[in-house]
Amino acid sequence: MGKLAPSVLSADLLKLREQVTVVAENGADYIHVDVMDGSFVPNISFGPVMVSTLKRITTLPLDVHLMIQNPQNYIQNFADAGADIITVHQEACTHLDRVISQIKASGCQAGVSLNPATPLSAVLPVMNAIDLLLIMSVNPGFGGQRFIPYTLEKIREAAEFKRRDSASFLIEVDGGISLQTAPAAVQAGAEILVAGNAVFKQDSPAEACKSLKQVIQTSGRAV
Ligand code: DX5
Ligand code: ZN
Repeated sequence: MGKLAPSVLSADLLKLREQVTVVAENGADYIHVDVMDGSFVPNISFGPVMVSTLKRITTLPLDVHLMIQNPQNYIQNFADAGADIITVHQEACTHLDRVISQIKASGCQAGVSLNPATPLSAVLPVMNAIDLLLIMSVNPGFGGQRFIPYTLEKIREAAEFKRRDSASFLIEVDGGISLQTAPAAVQAGAEILVAGNAVFKQDSPAEACKSLKQVIQTSGRAV
């Protein structure tokens, strides 16, 4: 069954506790935290303080997406803050294998993310070492962008690899997910869908979350 990870990048921070509670009660399976450094991506967002604050608000697993250069220098800070999954970008890691080991040694699950233009082949050697593969369906940096359709092919490829190798990593998709785009992502093989604007920028985040979760769970995987 598909899972939903609302991204607090799009939340109203004045109502953080209320909004996180609302999504937790309406189908959210994870809380996605977008960390941006103004260097790897052209925007600056949250740091470990946001993670430790969320940890005090919710028992949902915190899915921390590091869009930062030199992520190896910050793994322990995010683990100590309460991250459950730490995802780094392949494009930001010279020594990806080492960073994955570092995340696991910190007690967190290890994720690796790929920008839209990065092929799946860039992470094939580590596919059996990771817990999560995060496929970006927008260029990272901002919420509210349009889903890039060609990224569906990479989701299909990852799902095919996973089946062939009986690998255990989960396939997550991030960017431009909505009631309209979610079905194709699920059918391609996405197991966790991140959604920012489609949840928090709606009149009723509760209703939006519930509807999105329902669409995710009823959009069967194409065989
Ligand atoms: C993009 C972030 C996403 C973003 C998703 O850089 O990694 O998680 O918040 O937002 P939406 O769902 O609005 O595209
Ligand atoms: Zn993200």
